[in-house]
Amino acid sequence: MTIHIAAKSGEIAETVLLPGDPRRAKWAAERFLDNPKLINDLRGMLGFTGTWNGHRVTIHGSGMGMPSLSIYANELIRDYGARTLIRIGSCGAMQNRVKLRDIILAMTATTFTTPSSGIFRELKYAPCADWGLLRAAARAAEALGTTPHVGGIYSSDVFYDERPDLNEQMTRHGILGVEMETAELYTLAARHGCRALAVLTVSDHLLTHESLPGAERETGFAEMVEIALNAAFA
Ligand code: ADE
Repeated sequence: MTIHIAAKSGEIAETVLLPGDPRRAKWAAERFLDNPKLINDLRGMLGFTGTWNGHRVTIHGSGMGMPSLSIYANELIRDYGARTLIRIGSCGAMQNRVKLRDIILAMTATTFTTPSSGIFRELKYAPCADWGLLRAAARAAEALGTTPHVGGIYSSDVFYDERPDLNEQMTRHGILGVEMETAELYTLAARHGCRALAVLTVSDHLLTHESLPGAERETGFAEMVEIALNAAFA
């Protein structure tokens, strides 16, 4: 047991899928895992371990934002031995060619700060995905009939961002979408020699101001989970 995770030693798999929302962790575990077992519910942050095609997998909520993800990823890696961590989450699109429901595989994550920024001082560290996982996820998506967007995303600290031309600059520089967790996940994975990737579904659009109705989010979410599981064990 750690400060934020009640699981016993050995109850967490080496492969962990990290949705932001704990209820999505429950939904994904019940839908995709055989014999899912609740291994954490501290503060309502649900985690489940089961098997997928015979492989042990944990699906654990990360919460919203990098400070929350950092707590769970640190404990999963350092205390429970997680080695492959795949974020499965939503993002806002920042390019016209990226549409609602599309899948983005985050090759890099641009950011102002992460909880790790302090250790880098003036250095602009470039958080990036594990290449093997990224390649496997692109292949898995195509095998499932989806062509993912692969490229840079922006991990923001602010959901209700009022900085005047920030989004415009991100769009100009090719950023595919915005979310709030991946840069810290990639940084921690690099530091601890783990593999990490973010597989994202576009839930809203910053240029067109469209957003997915709640009920539809589940379908896109299922595709993400399948891509993540296939990539993890490719
Ligand atoms: N996650 C999903 N949509 C987002 C947005 N527009 N900004 C930040 N995080 C998001």
